[in-house]
Amino acid sequence: MTRHRKIDHPDNDNRLDSMAQGVLGKPVDRLEGPLKVSGLATYASEARPSGMAHGVLVRATITKGRVVGIDRQAALALPGVMTVITDPRMVRYPAQGMAGKGPKAGPDVVDYHGQPIALVVAEGFEQARHAAKALRITYEEEPAPTDPDTVTPEVPDAKQKAQGDLDAAIRDAAFSVDCTYTTPTLMAVAMEPHAAIAEWDGDRVTVRAALQMLASDRKQLADALGVGPEQVRLLAPYVGGGFGSKLGIAPEAVAAAIAAKELGVPVSVALTRMQEFDITHRRSESRQRVLLAAGADGVLTGIGHEALVSNLPDSPFSEPVTQATPFTYQAAHRRIAHRIARVHRSCAGSVRAPGEAIGVTVFEAALDELAEAAGIDPVELRLRNIPDREPGTGRPYSVNRLGDCLREGAHRFGWNQRRAPKERLEGEWFIGMGMAAAVRVNMLIESRARVTLTEDGAKVETDMTDIGTGTYTILRQIAAEMLGLPVDLVEVHLGDTDFPPAAGSGGSFGAASSGTSVYLACEDIRARIAERMGCTDAELRLQDGRASFRNDTRELRELLAGEVLVAEGHVEPGDAEKQARQATWGAHFAEVAVSRHTGEVRVRRMLGVFACGRILNEKTARSQCLGGMTFGIGMALTEGVEHDPRTGHIVNRDLAGYHLPSHADVPEQDVVFLPDRDGFAGPMQAKGIGELGICGAGGAVLNAIYNACGVRVRDLPATPDKVMP
Ligand code: MOS
Repeated sequence: MTRHRKIDHPDNDNRLDSMAQGVLGKPVDRLEGPLKVSGLATYASEARPSGMAHGVLVRATITKGRVVGIDRQAALALPGVMTVITDPRMVRYPAQGMAGKGPKAGPDVVDYHGQPIALVVAEGFEQARHAAKALRITYEEEPAPTDPDTVTPEVPDAKQKAQGDLDAAIRDAAFSVDCTYTTPTLMAVAMEPHAAIAEWDGDRVTVRAALQMLASDRKQLADALGVGPEQVRLLAPYVGGGFGSKLGIAPEAVAAAIAAKELGVPVSVALTRMQEFDITHRRSESRQRVLLAAGADGVLTGIGHEALVSNLPDSPFSEPVTQATPFTYQAAHRRIAHRIARVHRSCAGSVRAPGEAIGVTVFEAALDELAEAAGIDPVELRLRNIPDREPGTGRPYSVNRLGDCLREGAHRFGWNQRRAPKERLEGEWFIGMGMAAAVRVNMLIESRARVTLTEDGAKVETDMTDIGTGTYTILRQIAAEMLGLPVDLVEVHLGDTDFPPAAGSGGSFGAASSGTSVYLACEDIRARIAERMGCTDAELRLQDGRASFRNDTRELRELLAGEVLVAEGHVEPGDAEKQARQATWGAHFAEVAVSRHTGEVRVRRMLGVFACGRILNEKTARSQCLGGMTFGIGMALTEGVEHDPRTGHIVNRDLAGYHLPSHADVPEQDVVFLPDRDGFAGPMQAKGIGELGICGAGGAVLNAIYNACGVRVRDLPATPDKVMP
């Protein structure tokens, strides 16, 4: 039986609040935690099917042109080498994820330095890697731009928005700001590198891979291979992070499948860390101009946000930098501009909150500049500009907790201790505080799950992934809560396309979307139990394996009498998402120390206050936010790709040259969730969390640097050389 629901109306029933088990929202430990810390959770490249061969991708060493010849002889003569593949299907999908639709030429057509052009397969990994270096490749090169500032950008009509007369607003403003910030190319850098092991059984291929969204990945892989989706099975039970880089299939999965077919043995293709930087998609660098006009009271009259990003010529994705700008603050005069420079750097795609991660960060830094210019406290300035309804459309907000987050954060952080720049000096360190709002759009994506209830407990099955986010655990908690079972009696099976197709992990929509499908399946099972108890679902109480209605309490075991109840839940987004502006809200606060001798910045403490609907698991939700805030430190202080100006090639291709904050960089961090419910998000009233933590976090750090030492860094990251002056 399938229980289907399209979310056409807000659901404010609060059903989950009246359930008896009391496990939802609790900081329950990760179901798969022990497997991960003991090494028993197998990641994509850890399977060892017998006879498995190893493939190594060979990358182009030109920026643009054609491969006119590949001399395979020397490579094929080396020990263990089995084949060299240059199948055009291999790069039909660029390393771009969900945006990579449609055929792409190649691999004889080279679009960027580092693009995969061949796969060398050998019995051993080292043999394949060695042989890859022995390929003699000749190219026909074409000149190609790699620097976004040197080309005339495209101006897509649909992405320009204007209202009123911003220039006049700036002219007439009591206070105004016109500033330009730049952010560098950023990478997802998941701990687990991309990997795939493909194995054919007749005309059906099974691929174990590091992927975020199996249902759409399955279609993409089938499309790339030219087979039907039913011929493809994907397995991804454990994934070591994705951050966007594993949203879609990438060359390693296609190459492994092609090679395995040709050779008739399982083939593994795992990327090295350097290949990760070369081949997986990047977050576009950006140039952002922010214009702000305000009256003497700090009320905004004009908002402008103009973004320049880049991507390859035929790639549809374009970093949605200004996504949250139209609905975060009010102002009568507005201008949103978006431009895309077509350059031959590697493919740009979704990385860690595409859009808001860099857009909100920069906008919030610019607002700090306005607060400074107007002499108004930065928290107060924001509070004066929170709209009652969505600007432009006039729609209501489903919920808008920005003001609550700002006030709560300011109170908890001790914001009133903040001083003017350079007023707090401790030894060589200037101390400062900064803050920023956190905003991220919220989405629901179609999702299905199957729940089976037996005398021994329940089982959840869906092709949803857990990329380190806590999916196993929250789905277990939802089923346990709905069915009145201790969490230990609920099994969760994920990451297999033989299970009902789910939303997958992306865009912060995973938990609420897949969770709602589990909720619906359980609702169906509850209805059947209620019937046996002679009551309605609302009258039914399920707790610790017992069903009660008034004074009648019966063991589920007795009610089932050996029968197995199976239900599928299926949720789809509907009109509710059009009726109101839905978003998640928060506020970041940071305290930094800046060395007056070296310009070194140390974050001393950070607080994030968030409102993102019902919290499904206090611990995993908190970890998500801590991770996002940590990425915010990276964006503000250390992370940035250097492109070789001659070729566009990424120069700092390892974790030494591309520094992600590690423990020594991450100070005291605190996360607070405001109690929140959003009925527009569906019956669970839960929203996305994964990406909210990074949105704006870097802005709080940049603003704290200014408050510490009076230096405004507008070219991220704020490395000591930029802070020192
Ligand atoms: Mo996300 S950047 O949609 O995984």
